[in-house]
Amino acid sequence: MKPPVRVAITGAAGQIGYAMAFRLASGEVLGPDQPVILQMIEIPPAMKSLDGVRMELDDCAFPLLAGMEAADSDHLDQGFKNANWVILLGGLPRKAGMERADLIRVNGPLFTAQGKGIQAAAASDVRVVVVANPCNTNCLIAMHSAPDVPKDRWFAMTRLDQNRGQAQLAQKAGVGVGEVKRLAIWGNHSSTQFPDFQNATISGRPVTEVIGHQEWLRKDFIATVQKRGAAVIEARGASSAASAANAALDTVKSLVNPTAKNDCIAVAVHSDGSYGIEKGLICGFPIKTDGKKWSIIEGFKIDEFAQGKIDTTVNELKQERETVKDLLPK
Ligand code: NAI
Repeated sequence: MKPPVRVAITGAAGQIGYAMAFRLASGEVLGPDQPVILQMIEIPPAMKSLDGVRMELDDCAFPLLAGMEAADSDHLDQGFKNANWVILLGGLPRKAGMERADLIRVNGPLFTAQGKGIQAAAASDVRVVVVANPCNTNCLIAMHSAPDVPKDRWFAMTRLDQNRGQAQLAQKAGVGVGEVKRLAIWGNHSSTQFPDFQNATISGRPVTEVIGHQEWLRKDFIATVQKRGAAVIEARGASSAASAANAALDTVKSLVNPTAKNDCIAVAVHSDGSYGIEKGLICGFPIKTDGKKWSIIEGFKIDEFAQGKIDTTVNELKQERETVKDLLPK
């Protein structure tokens, strides 16, 4: 038996945590011969609910679940101890009347504490996926609070946007979703993101050739992907949970397996200045990996239309960084 991989999850009793924990424990994500220890973290009032999740995990009798640990958010050193993966779901949801900037201010400090906790306690190979919104900026704060953890270990989730975009393109073209590749999500996981149909392919051909309807691609497609989260809330009366958990697990799977030559992973990472995007921002890029080391894919074509969209979303990231500048190093 391989040694177990430790996965720490904050907000584990929340909607996304509930949709995620069982799939991790089943072996579906890290492999059919890979034991997993789940380290689940919640705020003190939610610990009882977390007990219920643990009871249900027990009741699944997953052979690969080698252990479960629970910690409250006042004991992050315990929660993150020796974790190889950390998935940050925990945070306060946006309430009615709250502006995005208010949410950033409320949640920002939690990520200072979480970054410090990860640095103090996690395994030396830790990789961190931030899902809690605003995920790019929360990731930036946590990363800066853990300066000893290399910057290539920090990821913010734009995979749900990629999956949503692939589904829309496949439906429009009347093909299976697996035919859609190389759909990059640039920028912020927010309504300014740019789902880059121009570099995407359907069955190996450019999307713009297969779907000749430029107006639909430039307007309806982009807007549908950008506003999909709100549309799900409107329909379901609750925010995306199973699809968000699925996207977080897809992110982990994509980072531990080699990327196909004709494809890209959509995830937000620490910018190295590629494509003229300011160094240091946590920005959505097209990424590839050999399963160990990732890099930003070069050579995506950016025309004037795409550049305008990328500038808008990158400017929003800079504004968010400004809002939390007291939580970042001077
Ligand atoms: P939820 O409200 O159901 O669960 C959040 C959980 O976090 C709650 O159980 C809460 O008790 C816990 N929590 C709050 N503060 C915490 C702390 N300091 N430490 C540990 N746990 C804490 O929310 P849901 O639906 O599970 O969503 C989680 C986050 O994911 C939200 O921020 C949401 O906006 C974000 N999200 C991100 C998406 C993306 O594509 N990046 C997509 C969908 C949701």
